Amino acid sequence: MKRRVAVLISGNGSNLQALIDAAKEENYPAQIVLVISNKPQAYGLKRAATAHIPALVIEHGAYATREEFDRAVHAALMDAHVEILCLAGFMRLLSPWFVAQWQGRMLNIHPSLLPAFKGAHAVRDALAAGVTKTGCTVHVVTEAVDAGPVVAQAEVAVLPGDTEESLKLRIHEAEHRLYPAALKVLAGR
Ligand code: GRF
Repeated sequence: MKRRVAVLISGNGSNLQALIDAAKEENYPAQIVLVISNKPQAYGLKRAATAHIPALVIEHGAYATREEFDRAVHAALMDAHVEILCLAGFMRLLSPWFVAQWQGRMLNIHPSLLPAFKGAHAVRDALAAGVTKTGCTVHVVTEAVDAGPVVAQAEVAVLPGDTEESLKLRIHEAEHRLYPAALKVLAGR
């Protein structure tokens, strides 16, 4: 039986797309059963619609507290019998309560070789630091941001003349291979 996976997004959703494409493979151990965005204009919602995957917009602004928003997301995940959660460009911090509900069952992708360059500007920070290689990491989500156990990493070389955009592009390509591979590991456990 394929594991039931939901993907949380806030924007473009290119990693969502990579997961959708991977899950089309007959032998892939997971299926994407729900997409949730906290932003109504997220392009990833169109990707979900094109793939005929149910999608919900749950706007954080409609909730008084972080935990109320998280409880609404959690209720939607329960309704859809979701077993594994993938954060893919989801730009909200999740409450300790939510993280505890999904302990060991929630993945995130981050555009650096963690523990290097945590935070929202990982690619810019890597360039500024002058490193010769960076990359991307899929990790289990724990309460501390960008700090849970690493499931998989891929290296990306920083090339002479790289800009934030050019480097981001190559990291994204690596992400699109890494995330499906990492989800496969967790779903196959
Ligand atoms: C990715 O770079 C991911 O590492 C970071 O947010 C970005 C999301 O891109 N967490 P997309 O929406 O999947 O295209």
